[in-house]
Amino acid sequence: MTVKYLTDVHADGRTLQELFDADPTRADRFVASVAGLRVDWSRQPVTDDVLRELRAAARLAGVPEHFRSLFAGEHINSTEDRAVLHMALRAHPSDSYEVDGHNVMMNVRHELDRMTAFSEVVRADSRITDIVNIGIGGSDLGPAMAAQALAGDVHPRLTAHFVSNIDGADIDSVLQTVQPESTLFVIVSKTFTTLETLANAMAARQWIVESLGEAAVREHFVAVSTAPDKVEEFGISADMTFGFWDWVGGRYSLWSAVGLSLMLLVGAKRFEELLLGAREVDAHMIETLVSDDRLDENVPVTLALIGVLHRNVLDRPTKAVIPYVHELRRFPAFLQQLDMESNGKSVTIDGEAVESATGPVIWGEPGTNGQHAFFQLLHQGTDIVPVDFIGVARPRHPRVDQHDLLFANLLAQAQALAFGRPSAHEPHRGFEGNRPSTLILAEQLDARTLGQLIALYEHIVFVQGVMWGINSFDQWGVELGKELASALALVLSDESVSLDDVGDPATLAAVQWYRAHKLH
Ligand code: F6P
Repeated sequence: MTVKYLTDVHADGRTLQELFDADPTRADRFVASVAGLRVDWSRQPVTDDVLRELRAAARLAGVPEHFRSLFAGEHINSTEDRAVLHMALRAHPSDSYEVDGHNVMMNVRHELDRMTAFSEVVRADSRITDIVNIGIGGSDLGPAMAAQALAGDVHPRLTAHFVSNIDGADIDSVLQTVQPESTLFVIVSKTFTTLETLANAMAARQWIVESLGEAAVREHFVAVSTAPDKVEEFGISADMTFGFWDWVGGRYSLWSAVGLSLMLLVGAKRFEELLLGAREVDAHMIETLVSDDRLDENVPVTLALIGVLHRNVLDRPTKAVIPYVHELRRFPAFLQQLDMESNGKSVTIDGEAVESATGPVIWGEPGTNGQHAFFQLLHQGTDIVPVDFIGVARPRHPRVDQHDLLFANLLAQAQALAFGRPSAHEPHRGFEGNRPSTLILAEQLDARTLGQLIALYEHIVFVQGVMWGINSFDQWGVELGKELASALALVLSDESVSLDDVGDPATLAAVQWYRAHKLH
């Protein structure tokens, strides 16, 4: 299936080896810097002609116009009738971002100031040693990934815990390691209706009340939400509630109060650096698509279009993201939500069935672990999987020798994938090569480069959504499962509830099996 804009895009039939032989300068020309990131797509199956065709397709699809609509605060999330303005969360205070005619920057900065003041108090309070973030999806993955990524910046007295799963083993394992007197729970839920988060928050609340009494809830709980009334019903007061707005999607919310746990751990200064990094990539988008018409120089657009080439022209349904930075080991999981919840759609923004394949399956593990697990398939399997390699020049640890080995492995994998090595006599030892990858490199991983990296991917996802004509900012596909689970939970927990409405025979049989075997 091909997107209509792509009918004039032709893949170049030559192998990567042939492309490099024909034009060795591609190693210098198909590389660009965006903020502090060096992005290298020379090992991708593109030429000047292919890129020209792809960029023409992006213009036909209206990528600059759609970005301007996003930037202008238009309600581009049409199925929820909302603006999509996470860029405002990391904007400079003097910038102006408007939603429905109101400049939102005062509110954004006000909430950031409240977070800053609160985090300073907590970081100075020697009684608090453990921060437990309770949230799921966008209310967990961003802060959890970033807290790991910036582990070297975490206050030495503080230990971070992230509880997300409805599986009681998650909260239970954390409650067994922390002490009520020294634990602060940060309950994060945009809607404050999410089953997992409310169940875990209730368990934590009960645990605090049992050992310290009801009055201690005030001291040990804060909330982050767009639904202050629901937070209040839970028993957390307005002054302990940090807000954000409906124009911030869950998977784009790390930059808002959803990042509170991260700010508590690494401090407001680092958090501002994270915002700055993202702002630098936003500036690149604005300069090339809004202030000027320089789409050809736009790095996220180029990477997005290479992804579209793989998905729609070369029919590649998955993409691997492999960070050669141990601290980024949760980055693939974060990216799974960012990309797959945004672009895993089969209906266009106009409500029609899509005419092309949309978002790929995103997956990955850190290098070098992945090399000893699934790289066999990447090198010799029958499917071609495009890879993003992420690496840094300088680690945060002092083991330079090990870092040289790590970086050598990153380069070796990209080289082996691209150029392979034939084996005339022993076919099982042959590497056909011609397997594409992009290298995204930073001098070091710090709050600023992390902000750049996340924003880079956010913009890639946005551009691809435009190419596919879908709404990247809703997530109706998660609703049916939630609805069925609440109905089934009643049947599982109360055996007097009739099984008549369970539905299909396969589910009914499994419900009966569960009832017969569950703990009573
Ligand atoms: O179920 C999906 C989802 O709505 C995500 O989009 C969101 O990040 C997550 O659930 C958590 O939602 P909330 O922050 O409202 O608890």
